[in-house]
Amino acid sequence: MVASYNECMDCERLVNARQDNVIKFPTYYNKPVPADGYEKTKFLIVGLAPGLHGANATGLPFNGDFAGRFLKQNLEENGFKLSRERKSGAINYCITNAVKCFPPLNRPLQSEINNCLRHLKKELSVIQPYFILCLGAVAHNAVMKACKKDVLIKFQHGNSFRVGQRIIFDSYHPSKRNISTKRLTTAMFRIILKKIREEIEKVNPVE
Ligand code: URA
Repeated sequence: MVASYNECMDCERLVNARQDNVIKFPTYYNKPVPADGYEKTKFLIVGLAPGLHGANATGLPFNGDFAGRFLKQNLEENGFKLSRERKSGAINYCITNAVKCFPPLNRPLQSEINNCLRHLKKELSVIQPYFILCLGAVAHNAVMKACKKDVLIKFQHGNSFRVGQRIIFDSYHPSKRNISTKRLTTAMFRIILKKIREEIEKVNPVE
């Protein structure tokens, strides 16, 4: 099953940016970027939105840019693998963004985040994750809305909590800025991945 949002025209500003980028960067993907992994998987990671020269270029979330390299390297070193790579002994994950289109200056408007919720909800209904890692406050708020509207828990790095049957984890986003200012370090991120691994292994020791 493949998620396809190519037809989405919900956000005028983002559609215009997409069309501009087709001219500026004709070799780039320049479309809404679907989840990488679109099948039942216990663990889902949710980021902010495609980076211009990363996911917007390659068509895969967290692929081709600094944030993606930091994230994937740390996931790999801690025993997590993309579900489509099907590595035995690893914890499989799918990955997506709260907003599927590249937003100018990497800043989606609240209306764009709200419009995109329908795509995130659809992904949640297909992937059915029990564990969700939210990278940053935008991802946290979108996941909270997509899971259950009436839960009022604010984003807090390192926090984890239950929403229904799910466990949600919060981490600062691995953006270049957060890494270069040391707001998020490899050591900090490892602590979160270790916590997630422990929770997943309580349910299912090794996949
Ligand atoms: N790349 C993505 O796909 N999402 C982000 O949030 C950052 C970079």
